[in-house]
Amino acid sequence: MRFLVSLSLALSLACAALTPRVVKQFPVGTWLENLAIRPSGDILLTLISAPEIHSLSPVTGHSSLVGTAPGVQGIGGITQLSSWGGEEVYAFGAGNVSLETARPIPGTWSLFLLHLPSQKVEKVVDVPLAGMINGLAALPHGRSVLFADPENGAIYIVDIHARTYGVWADDDDLKMSDDVPFKLGVNGLRLSPDGRWVYFTNTARALLGRFPLPSYGVPKLDIVAAAADFDGLHLDDFALREHHDGGIEAYITTNPFNTLVHVSTRGNVTDVAGGSGELTVAGCTAALFARDGRTLYVVTNGGLEIPVNGTIVEGGKFVAFTVPKTDSE
Ligand SMILES: *[C@@H]1O[C@H](CO)[C@@H](O)[C@H](O)[C@H]1NC(C)=O
Ligand SMILES: *[C@@H]1O[C@H](CO)[C@@H](O)[C@H](O)[C@H]1NC(C)=O
Ligand SMILES: *[C@@H]1O[C@H](CO)[C@@H](O)[C@H](O)[C@H]1NC(C)=O
Repeated sequence: MRFLVSLSLALSLACAALTPRVVKQFPVGTWLENLAIRPSGDILLTLISAPEIHSLSPVTGHSSLVGTAPGVQGIGGITQLSSWGGEEVYAFGAGNVSLETARPIPGTWSLFLLHLPSQKVEKVVDVPLAGMINGLAALPHGRSVLFADPENGAIYIVDIHARTYGVWADDDDLKMSDDVPFKLGVNGLRLSPDGRWVYFTNTARALLGRFPLPSYGVPKLDIVAAAADFDGLHLDDFALREHHDGGIEAYITTNPFNTLVHVSTRGNVTDVAGGSGELTVAGCTAALFARDGRTLYVVTNGGLEIPVNGTIVEGGKFVAFTVPKTDSE
């Protein structure tokens, strides 16, 4: 874990830094991994350091445990399923993680559903072929979800009702790369607000790309911003926002780089929060917009994987930012 010394952030702070509001900080050792917005505006937070899902009020900062996954050590991505007869239902991935290497254990991951407010948790299907269930995106009709497997570098599709899964996309641009310290391929997945695209990040290759929907058979991908734009950043999960002219902006977490970066509709990349030696968004793992399109939520692991300045770790936290209405280009 000493390789960070050689990583440096060459991106300049071209944009005014966003002002953070820490809504809730959990104890040290808590690795917040992903989040989903509830219809009430409350937030579901998944932990990978424990098999737990918490519901948090972004107004009061009060949170409570609303779901646990049986027989596993941690939870990855989470997403709400639409059109479930008015019920509030979320799909999430859960499995085991090696505490020594902070890596998922392939073959131990399964897709589950969480029903709220009943807090009923049910397993949909084991996905033994997958290395992990990381980013999750529900397809618009609510029957299937896509998940990113950073170990195999593939996107899988799960049919929730049939309880089956298969490979949806398996492309070179989803694979990890051997010549970087972070051995993770496709990581974050988000459906665009208009439901026409599935966006993804590839951590090792520092790519933001997308696939068109609907796209069964052989999805064809586009690269939105490439490694040269990101200058070797570690790209984790991200939030998307539709721009007034129909373009898409992304806010991407960079986990051990401790920054949040903005990708404009034209593909320009700038740092907007944090810094390599800062705790602002230390170990940030995922981001999501509130329904107002102005409030951006970020979750962190507090530097648990790579301590800030080599030694500093804080509790994972939930941070809110108010972002400008439009691209500041
Ligand atoms: C996860 O690890 C625990 C503890 O080693 C073990 O009991 C459990 O069976 C594992 N779960 C899976 C799905 O392999
Ligand atoms: C990390 O080190 C830098 C340079 O010495 C220092 O400015 C910064 O405050 C340190 N970060 C923390 C969180 O202490
Ligand atoms: C965005 O990228 C374009 C093309 O590379 C460049 O001309 C422009 O100055 C960039 N804008 C900002 C705000 O960096």
